[in-house]
Amino acid sequence: MATAGQELEPPSTDLITLTRHILSQQQALGEAASGDLTLLLIGIQVTSKYIASNVRKARLINLVGLAGASNVQGEDQKKLDVLSNDIMVNALRASGKVSVMVSEEIDEAILVSGSNGTYCVVFDPLDGSSNIDAGVNVGTIFGVYKVRPGSKGTIEDVLRPGSEMVAAGYTMYGSSCNLVLSTGQGVDGFTLDESLGEFILTHGDIKIPPRGKIYSFNEGNSMHFYPPVISYLESIKYPKDGKPYSARYIGSMVADVHRTLLYGGIFGYPDDKKSKDGKLRMLYEAFPMAFLTEQAGGVATTGSQRILDVVPTSIHGRCPVFLGSKEDVEDVKRHYAEYKGEKRW
Ligand code: AHG
Ligand code: MN
Ligand code: MN
Repeated sequence: MATAGQELEPPSTDLITLTRHILSQQQALGEAASGDLTLLLIGIQVTSKYIASNVRKARLINLVGLAGASNVQGEDQKKLDVLSNDIMVNALRASGKVSVMVSEEIDEAILVSGSNGTYCVVFDPLDGSSNIDAGVNVGTIFGVYKVRPGSKGTIEDVLRPGSEMVAAGYTMYGSSCNLVLSTGQGVDGFTLDESLGEFILTHGDIKIPPRGKIYSFNEGNSMHFYPPVISYLESIKYPKDGKPYSARYIGSMVADVHRTLLYGGIFGYPDDKKSKDGKLRMLYEAFPMAFLTEQAGGVATTGSQRILDVVPTSIHGRCPVFLGSKEDVEDVKRHYAEYKGEKRW
């Protein structure tokens, strides 16, 4: 560790940019011939920079507040939700690599006419947007499926379990802009160097600690929680031995999951007596985050089922989410397994 008067390490002369990283993974993906996924991911990288720049300037360029419309889930859209959505849709369409898109902000799946694209992208253009006006971290979440052999790209190509995704990731717009990505070969994190305009590898091969000390739930919903969730939360707040867990809940899934990947612990958004499937959307929230969690050595469950095995029946369907450190999530699963009362999931 450097102390006062000591010289610091000189800057690296061998930066690993996100583009370089994706290109080096291309071979292992069997993508060497087409490089289509590479081009697609590079396209997403550009959208992240553009959204980041708008999020950062939002207050200055009249981008805070409501857009005056609501999405299919009945949520009021913010101006930045709409802008981020349009940035993603336009860039993915222009990539020529995508034939199906699903966005949180658009009711129907977008089938890109005339596209020979072999990929489908599902995304939450701006996650945590209720936090935006307070300058709190928000993000973009995405998952990528390959179109099924013989298909020209239909809704069936995205109504598939998350285990069939070929890539997933998120970009977090916070004190720094971080893009975290997995193509099924572990998880890597990149930080945007604004002076270079490049994402630089800063968190290689992220692994979640096997047990954490932090829990991240919206306990304001406690009165609606089912018994296994209540008994699990009791067990970490009033442990028989050791120290109780600390609570951290930002209310932006991207930020809460990012912290969970780096520090360990558990993030949960359960189903409850009011929300029969929980709140988080399967395709573009639960699946990509579960994919990253598993790739980082953690566990992601609905309480009773592996999230990545859930088969979606609608593009905006929801499911309960518990994800994070292996041992912490196994504890939740035990509380579910011991509960004999009625439950939906
Ligand atoms: P979005 O802004 O894309 O609608 O997502 C908000 C989600 C997610 O980011 C977060 O984990 C959760 O909603 C927070 O919900 P509560 O306010 O109910 O805790
Ligand atoms: Mn969201
Ligand atoms: Mn959103």
